Order: sequence, then structure tokens, then C-alpha cells
Amino acid sequence: MSTAYSKDEIAALQEKAKRHLWLHFTRMSSYADNDVPVIVRGEGQYVYDQRGKRYLDGLAGLFVSQIGHGRTEVAEAGARQAAELAYFPLWSYAHPQAIELADRLAAMAPGDLNRVFFTGSGSEAVESAWKLAKQYFKTIGQPNRYKVISRSIAYHGTSMGALAITGLPGIKEPFEPLPAGGVRVPNTNFYRAPEFVAHDETAFGIWAADEIERAILREGEDSVAAVFLEPLQNSGGCFPPPPGYFRRVRDICDRYGVLLVSDEVICAFGRLGHYFGSERYGYQPDIITFAKGVTSGYAPLGGMLVRDALMEPFTEGQATFLHGVTFAGHPVSCAVAMANLDVFEKEDLLGNVRANEGAFRATLEKLNDLPIVGDVRGDGYFYGIELVKDKTSRETFDDDESERLLRGFLSHALFDAGLICRADDRGDPVIQLSPPLTCTQEHFDEMEQILRAVLSEAWTRI
Ligand SMILES: Cc1ncc(COP(=O)(O)O)c(C=O)c1O
Repeated sequence: MSTAYSKDEIAALQEKAKRHLWLHFTRMSSYADNDVPVIVRGEGQYVYDQRGKRYLDGLAGLFVSQIGHGRTEVAEAGARQAAELAYFPLWSYAHPQAIELADRLAAMAPGDLNRVFFTGSGSEAVESAWKLAKQYFKTIGQPNRYKVISRSIAYHGTSMGALAITGLPGIKEPFEPLPAGGVRVPNTNFYRAPEFVAHDETAFGIWAADEIERAILREGEDSVAAVFLEPLQNSGGCFPPPPGYFRRVRDICDRYGVLLVSDEVICAFGRLGHYFGSERYGYQPDIITFAKGVTSGYAPLGGMLVRDALMEPFTEGQATFLHGVTFAGHPVSCAVAMANLDVFEKEDLLGNVRANEGAFRATLEKLNDLPIVGDVRGDGYFYGIELVKDKTSRETFDDDESERLLRGFLSHALFDAGLICRADDRGDPVIQLSPPLTCTQEHFDEMEQILRAVLSEAWTRI
């Protein structure tokens, strides 16, 4: 199928985009003299722009397109559902698609995470988890517990509550004051661990977990409601948990009666070779938040999976969780999620990730011979490549250099070379890869070759 638009169609779209569309987290001024990148079609692991140029989707859109693009059976499941019942709310009513999906997710989830509260997005899922924690503790007679602990640099969403949990000062500052109660602890970035634990990853993990305990004690142990952690932290560049970290965090949460929320908006649905990231690292959360991969982006959906015990106080008398959103658990999105999970099963996508993740890692690790590559880290189909000015000292780039390197060169150059990935400097500068779970060696090679060429060129420009 040809996707190329005519010259006139391209010009018209550009004009409308520049006049009327507002892109997210985007400096709109950068499009004053440049085209807005417009993607018009996807097929498998690739997407195509208006001119018909092909790109390897190395980020699965935005950590979303697990099964890849152009799956007609999933699109048709959504169309069939829209024809049968396009919409009905989950406020006092149910519909079969939400019921069936809740049942399926509960069966897949670890332990007794048996209750599903749907949302429309990841931020809404995180927001819902905090609200549930607050109302739950009020309901069981612990009204002072409202604070939430999360790691610095971690991204947990953009709505006001989720933003208060997010650990990126730069995207919070314009919106201060945010809801009270967000507490930060250090990150689990072993590459930049404090000197006294820099040579022992286990000791580093124990120290990082104990920082959570110290924060609970500092804040007042009766005031903390929950700890929000991603299984493998995205922002900052793919930090896997150090050995023993989650076991110790679980113990600490149990000791102080604090809920452990596993924010799996990215890490669920195969990204780490399991349906849930907490399974990969062997810990039992009290709540899992999810979104993105649950539908592979064929329709929007998010939600939280909740332990039976957290639902219990809401099962009696007049107790009601006072929270809801109109499009949560949309019938089309639930039908699409079911079809998406069918593809996972039919094609054993978890098996594909587990079988190929070693090859993916080994292919990316070839880039270690480049002077600009400091660290290659991650798990499953989720990797970060940290860029450094000096490999031996691990010296990073200053703000100006990072600006020139990432925004001035790498983002455009990688896109022009046909690879969609993320060049990010919210922590230290990193390139992130999170491709569709259908990728195999040929795609890993393509990523490595493009990155090698572009990063080599970047080094000559520093
Ligand atoms: C860990 C995590 N939590 C929450 C969110 C927010 O999700 P959404 O953009 O769907 O609101 C994201 C988004 O990337 C995320 O990575």
C-alpha cells in the first residue's frame, strides 16, 4: 500500500498542524522553520511518514505498541464493539467487555490482585492508586496516612496528583504548589551510585531500599500511605532494580503498614518478558497501575489491579470509592485489550521476549566500543544507553552540551536515519529503546547500525 501524500496534501497538513495543533512536551518554536513530523501508517515494527519514508519504531510509539502496527484483527474487534455498544459508563453499570477483561487480568496478575479499577490512561491510574490509598486508610481508621514516597527522576504522570509523585523537578516547577505529600528518595542508578556502595550492587540495593525506611521514619511512620516504584525505572534511562531491592522494600512496607504500588504503565504486558514487571523481579505489590501495552495502543485504556484486602472496606454498608472518570473501561478499549491479549497468547510474545532479550542486549552492547557510550542497561525489550563525555571518569555533559547534543543533533539525526527512539536528558543524557515485542535479530541489527553511525557522528561534533 502506498502511503505517500501529494505535495499539496503535505503542505496543507503542515500548515494546519503549525496553526492549530499543540504537541505535548514539545517546543513548538522548533517547528517555525521545520516540518512537523507526521506519521501516517504503521505495519509490523515499522511506521511511515507522509512521504512514504519508513522508520523502525524503536520506542513502540511511546512504550505502547507491544504487538506492532497494522493488526487488522485487533482493529476489527474494536469496530465490532463500537457497532454493538460504543459506550456505556462503569458508574453503577457494567458491560460484558469490562467484566471479561477484569476477569482475565485478575487471573494473570500475581497473588491476590483480584480487583480491577479501570481508567483511561496511566496518569489516571496513578492518580486513582493514590486516591484509593488515602480513602482506604481513612476508612480503616488511619486518617493521617496520605504521603507517598517515590524515587527522584522517576516519571509517574502529569495530572496534579501523579505529578506530585513524579520526581522530575523541571516538569513540576510551573505547577507548584502541587498536592501535599510527595516525598522523594534516591534513585537506583547503580552506574552513578554513591562511592561507599559503588562496587557492590547488592549493598547498593540495600542502601537504596533502606532510604525508603529512613524517609518513612523521617516523615512519621503513621503518615505514609504508599510507595510508588516502577519495576524497571524508565526516566533517567532504564534502571533495573539492584539485587534484593524489592524484597527489602516489601519488608519495609509490611513493617510500617505502607502500601507498595508497582507502577507498571510501561513495564507490564510483556515489556520485561512477563505480563507484569513485578513477576519478573519476584515481588508482590499491593496495587499495580497499568496502561499503554494493555491495548498496544489500538484504543486508550489504563487501570489499577488491587488486592482483595484493599477492596474489603468498600464492600459493606454505604462505603463507596468516591472516584471515577467517564471513559474508564470504555467498551471499545476493553474489546481491543482482549484481542490484543489474544495476539500475545497466539504468538507467544512473552516467549519471544525471553528468547531474544539476550541477543538484544548483546547487540546493543556492541556499541560499548564507541567513546560516547558509557553504559548499556535494561532488561527484556527495554534498554537505555547512557552517553558520556569521558568513559573512564564517567563525566557527563553539561547543560549546554547536552542541549546541543540531544536537541540540536541526536533527536533529528536518529529520526532522519530511520530510527524512532528517545534521546532524553531529564537525568543524564540517554538514548532509550523499547521496540515492539515482535522484534527479532534483524531489527536489533538495524537499531545497532543506525545508532553506531549517528553516535559516531555525534562524537565528532562535541
Ligand atoms: C511509569 C509511568 N507512570 C505513569 C505514566 C503516565 O501515563 P499516561 O501518559 O498514560 O498518563 C507513564 C507515562 O509514560 C509512565 O511511564
